[in-house]
Amino acid sequence: MRPPFRLAVLASGRGSNLQALIEAQRAGKLGAEVAGVFSDRGHCKALERARAAGVPTVALSPADFPSREAFDAAMFAAVEAIQPDLIVCAGYMRIISSNAVTRVSHRMINIHPSLLPAHPGLHTHARALAAGDREHGASVHQVEAAVDSGPVLARACVNVLPGDTPERLGARVLAREHPLLVGCVRAISEGRLSLRPSGLQWQGTDLRQPLSLNRRDELEEVP
Ligand code: GRF
Repeated sequence: MRPPFRLAVLASGRGSNLQALIEAQRAGKLGAEVAGVFSDRGHCKALERARAAGVPTVALSPADFPSREAFDAAMFAAVEAIQPDLIVCAGYMRIISSNAVTRVSHRMINIHPSLLPAHPGLHTHARALAAGDREHGASVHQVEAAVDSGPVLARACVNVLPGDTPERLGARVLAREHPLLVGCVRAISEGRLSLRPSGLQWQGTDLRQPLSLNRRDELEEVP
């Protein structure tokens, strides 16, 4: 039997994406195991969710380190200690130094609440509304040194509705984030989607534009 495909999940807050991974694993729909959860906050809901699921956790406080590089060296040493096949940033709110990113870039993904390349950074739902966007959504991308950059693996679209507030729009986006992240992790663990130095590959060929999450929660190529 193949050994389980191991995930290290980095999270700083609520942890609903982490919970989606845990539940998909329980349901046998992830093709992977959440092997450890890592946080830059000593107390957060994500850590509580991990502990409740029996997943080992590591929390390090940036205040205990002299620099971002020193913090990241310790954090990623802890991450590597569990020998992850894939590192998933799921609401990890800390900028990661470029040295640390470079070492793991082809094994690290992030979920971001916008249709990248639109709206990197914070307050994405308010910004999508202010820009008059008719479509908004979420993206999973390979992590590169600049914030919310790196090739986009897949996106989930949500229509912006009349009368939307950032909260209402954000809640609909979050509901699509969960199957999007689960779908990407599963596709990577099954070898259908791969992150290579030469670029992303989908079912053996170069991925030229991000995949899309369809209504059946499956990833598909955009025609
Ligand atoms: C999500 O919107 C994710 O896209 C962003 O941070 C939020 C984390 O939510 N990077 P949660 O902690 O997974 O509930």
